[in-house]
Amino acid sequence: MKTIIEPFKIKMVEQLRFTTRSERERLLEAASYNPFLLHSDDVLIDLLTDSGTTAMSAKQWSALMDGDEAYAGSRSYYRFEEVVRDITGFKHIIPTHQGRAAEKILFSLVGGPGRIIPNNTHFDTTRANIEVSGAQAIDLPNALGLVPEMVADFKGNMDTELLEELILGEGPGRIPVIMLTVTNNTGGGQPVSMANIRAVSEIAHAYGIPFFLDACRFAENAMFIKLREPGYESVPVKSIVQEMFSYADGCTMSAKKDGLVNTGGWLAMNDDTLAMQARNVLIVTEGFTTYGGLARRDLEAIARGLEEVLDESYLAYRLRSVQYLGDALELGGVPIVRPTGGHAVYLDAKRFVPHIPPEEYPGQAIVCALYLHAGIRTVEIGSVMFGKYDAAGRLVPASMELVRLAIPRRVYTQSHIDYIAEAVTEVYNDRAMLSGLSIAYEAPVLRHFTAQFEPIGVLHSAASGR
Ligand code: F0G
Repeated sequence: MKTIIEPFKIKMVEQLRFTTRSERERLLEAASYNPFLLHSDDVLIDLLTDSGTTAMSAKQWSALMDGDEAYAGSRSYYRFEEVVRDITGFKHIIPTHQGRAAEKILFSLVGGPGRIIPNNTHFDTTRANIEVSGAQAIDLPNALGLVPEMVADFKGNMDTELLEELILGEGPGRIPVIMLTVTNNTGGGQPVSMANIRAVSEIAHAYGIPFFLDACRFAENAMFIKLREPGYESVPVKSIVQEMFSYADGCTMSAKKDGLVNTGGWLAMNDDTLAMQARNVLIVTEGFTTYGGLARRDLEAIARGLEEVLDESYLAYRLRSVQYLGDALELGGVPIVRPTGGHAVYLDAKRFVPHIPPEEYPGQAIVCALYLHAGIRTVEIGSVMFGKYDAAGRLVPASMELVRLAIPRRVYTQSHIDYIAEAVTEVYNDRAMLSGLSIAYEAPVLRHFTAQFEPIGVLHSAASGR
């Protein structure tokens, strides 16, 4: 395969801070073995998230200077609206400070007790906003999506048979909206095919139910369609994106991902009444309709970012660089979710540390070991994030135990990625000595952000340390 190079050069750099193994032991203990509680200065390579961690382009930084900071009717809003409408085609575009603010507004209007909202797989904040409204969040991933080692083109697809069963079983009146998350973050960053988007849309509309995309990584999803779905090989990504949105009645969006910015998002829809209600909530909770909790200059950066993200040389590099890390790990025998997704490589903790049971959080054990060993920060996407308790207080584990290595956009170079691959492989070679953790403190919702852990045994030996 020919080398695909970073389609940019670097104009400004940020210094990294190296720590020693003994420093990291102290720092991780002080953070209660939860890397969310580490100071980022103490992290060498930060793979916690691809959200809001993008390096903006020189053109985006200069667009910031051109922001029109008017409270109402800002020129920057109209530029943002024009770009978002061009891509999505939606009638109403409501800016928000990030994705979950759009979710909060949507579900406070359409959620509520007795309601059910299906998705291929809900992201944690989406699920939380639905549940906080009193509604039920249901995941309907296709069966392939739940088998990490299985290679398939569109493991993010929703199971449309299960969707129809749910609608018939519960009655369409209980389902205010059907969602589809592109790419399917929680399911391994796997893409959804155009055929599946179309099929879910057709089912939703046959029962009179609105269909919304959770569009955070729409451009990465579209590039996968171009590369994998017959008939799209020579269709420009922008047209693929427009087709994806054409099947939906609205979307929630975190621009912190494929908007290529550090903050921002939107809620968009075609329904006039819902839009009016949403704008009223927005004014109370986020800000006026032409800025929604953002500095107006942020809207300029999003508008520019949305143009840059559709550059196919960027998207080819993006998907290829994630795959490069996956390939290197597979070469070292490390079990990962296959094929690699758009924004992250996911380690399969069940196969990585089969001796650690779900009750001892195998993913969190790997997360801690990677930090101790190499200063790399990652996140558990398994029973810490999605575990529940049954009536007897026993853990009901998540269906998969994953560790996500999210790759910030345009931030790390190939040698950073080589370092990550080496370090993860070294921890994998030490896997027999890893042990699990117990939870000492947890919040009632979204516990993974603030949970405090206690190691059950040795988390990782310093003997093989860097
Ligand atoms: N939907 C999906 C699929 C997401 O991945 C996220 C955020 C959100 C909604 C919420 O957006 O953060 O702007 O409020 N995902 C980040 C992550 C946090 O690390 O995957 P937000």
